[in-house]
Amino acid sequence: MHTTLMTGGNSGIGLQAARDLLAHGHRVILLGRDQRKGGQALASLGDAAERASFISADLSTHEGVRQAAKQILGEHDRLDALLHSTGVFTSKEMRTADGLHPFFAVNYLSRYHLTELLLPALRAAERPRVVMMTASVPPSADANLDRFPGFEPFDFARDRKPIQLGNHHYAAHLAQTEPGLLAGVINAGAAKTDILRMTPWYFRAMAKVTGPLFFNSLQESARNPVQAILNDDWPTATYWGKPADFDRRTPITLTESTTQRIMSISQSLAGA
Ligand SMILES: NC(=O)c1ccc[n+]([C@@H]2O[C@H](COP(=O)([O-])OP(=O)(O)OC[C@H]3O[C@@H](n4cnc5c(N)ncnc54)[C@H](OP(=O)(O)O)[C@@H]3O)[C@@H](O)[C@H]2O)c1
Repeated sequence: MHTTLMTGGNSGIGLQAARDLLAHGHRVILLGRDQRKGGQALASLGDAAERASFISADLSTHEGVRQAAKQILGEHDRLDALLHSTGVFTSKEMRTADGLHPFFAVNYLSRYHLTELLLPALRAAERPRVVMMTASVPPSADANLDRFPGFEPFDFARDRKPIQLGNHHYAAHLAQTEPGLLAGVINAGAAKTDILRMTPWYFRAMAKVTGPLFFNSLQESARNPVQAILNDDWPTATYWGKPADFDRRTPITLTESTTQRIMSISQSLAGA
């Protein structure tokens, strides 16, 4: 039986993807911060919950990532897939215990760090894969590294793209360094989930009014990550830019020196 770890699996797109994979007979490990939401997520899975488990962890800090990896490796020798569906959406200036902005720490660095620590379990799978959810950020070579990794003061409009592009660079790095592992990045689209909870009230009000015109359903947003986990026949590294259109793919080809620089910054921050 295939086992997938879903970070962000107690909510939104990650939970929907878990539901879909369970329907295909997979085993899932849901990871999120909120214990209560984790319990509710498991309860919502019905009989399939016997193939699901929940781990509570805060991935915004290096120590939180280390603890989560230790627990997962203690319980699982093999992971067939890792879906990174954690995310925060905030334009406020704030810092984690490690002095990083949470948008950088959660939406990029925790993905790098957790994957690196879990590589022994991923390598034990026949065809492992690592899939990372982002917003619409097509791969391009123009990541501005000047502000890495402090992003001080945080400026959402300016910093969103280079931070999210970290995922594309990490996918390119995995494709180069991990033979047999598939790595991909997927645009989540616009789905009405808890991701909006940290946004200003006027943003949520606007989303409520205009949402029905442009929101994707959870099923649409989860379709590409689920297909990337169920199918083997896609080239690594790949970016999917259109929700629910698995055949529309863009190869991730980035400037190698930029990838190396981002990997080196990530390694020195995370110590892994
Ligand atoms: N929905 C959209 O329109 C949209 C647009 C662009 C990109 N995305 C991306 O799609 C992915 C899924 O988001 P979603 O829409 O499904 O949002 P969501 O329902 O809010 O899910 C986000 C998940 O991240 C977890 N999380 C946040 N901070 C964490 C932390 N410090 N440690 C551990 N877990 C943490 C949350 O757990 P708790 O609830 O327990 O805190 C939750 O499970 C994210 O990567 C997001 O950035 C979504």
